[in-house]
Amino acid sequence: MQFFTFSLLIFFICYANCAPKAGDCTADELKECTPLGNKLKAYMSRHEGYRLPPDVYQNCTILCGSITKCYNELKCNNAQELKEDFEIRCSKLEYLTASIHHCMNRFSNAVYQRTYECSEKYDFLTRDLTKKAQIYKDGQACFVEIAEKVCRAESVEYLKNKETYGKLVDFLTVKPDNGCRGPHHEFSSEQCKPVVNSLNDLKVDLEKVQINDPTLLKLIGRCKEAVACVNDACMYPMAQDIHDGCDVFQLVNTHYGRCLVNVGEKDLSKYACLEGKPIVDKNECLKADKKDCLKIVFEGECGKEAVKNFDEHFETHRRTTCRRASLMPK
Ligand SMILES: *[C@@H]1O[C@H](CO)[C@@H](O)[C@H](O)[C@H]1NC(C)=O
Repeated sequence: MQFFTFSLLIFFICYANCAPKAGDCTADELKECTPLGNKLKAYMSRHEGYRLPPDVYQNCTILCGSITKCYNELKCNNAQELKEDFEIRCSKLEYLTASIHHCMNRFSNAVYQRTYECSEKYDFLTRDLTKKAQIYKDGQACFVEIAEKVCRAESVEYLKNKETYGKLVDFLTVKPDNGCRGPHHEFSSEQCKPVVNSLNDLKVDLEKVQINDPTLLKLIGRCKEAVACVNDACMYPMAQDIHDGCDVFQLVNTHYGRCLVNVGEKDLSKYACLEGKPIVDKNECLKADKKDCLKIVFEGECGKEAVKNFDEHFETHRRTTCRRASLMPK
């Protein structure tokens, strides 16, 4: 028994970092390649999202060559994984130096806002990757035309060049099967920004708006588009906030939501279950144990309609307030 426990303990301690898996190199064996990789990461993080100066680009290209060679010589599984990792980083060098990220951001905005006429013909922001490949092939001249207005000269050069443009189209339209990393996912995220940002432009007074008000329906529709986009783009930062925000807009468009706004101004002292407390504290997590009380109040103040699909609405309400509350500084 003692032996068993002990070996189990060793197993847990070692699981993460001592015994290499079969076919893996030890940390010691990987050591000679590590500094090269770190140097590359340092260069790239110093210029994150910006154009690499030519001398830095040059040094990075050289480093990329050495890193690939170094890991290749090691043959073991984890070295091959690291090599692939660096190949992704290195594949980005060329477009980083052409500041394509920056260009993609401005291009996607211009397309979304229909600033330039030529983009009407091409659905550049589609999420259908097969269609997208064809659209970017057919629309190169339009992309270049817009880039000439909104991007830097080095980006325009990159886009005009058949070979580099082809690589970019591959990044945009071929979803790699190696998890959520690399240029494809970065560009997908970039292309969701216009629709997500446009949510801020739709001004709807959520306190006053009526159910099925066209402005509210428009906001909900746009929000669904944004959610679909960020769901595809696995890297989108704070995607959960967009989901939550959209759930709140949907909730506003129900009798539950209207009632929640309306009861805020009423005297609810006759409801003993509230124990004299406000029905919902702003910025506080709505506790599950308030459910029955809330239902009584809603039905009493707003009628049967307000408690239709009550459980579902309450759950959305609870989930979104609790998440928001958990993000608030304490
Ligand atoms: C590039 O590498 C060379 C040789 O290692 C070094 O002397 C030079 O400072 C590096 N350039 C930059 C911009 O870091």
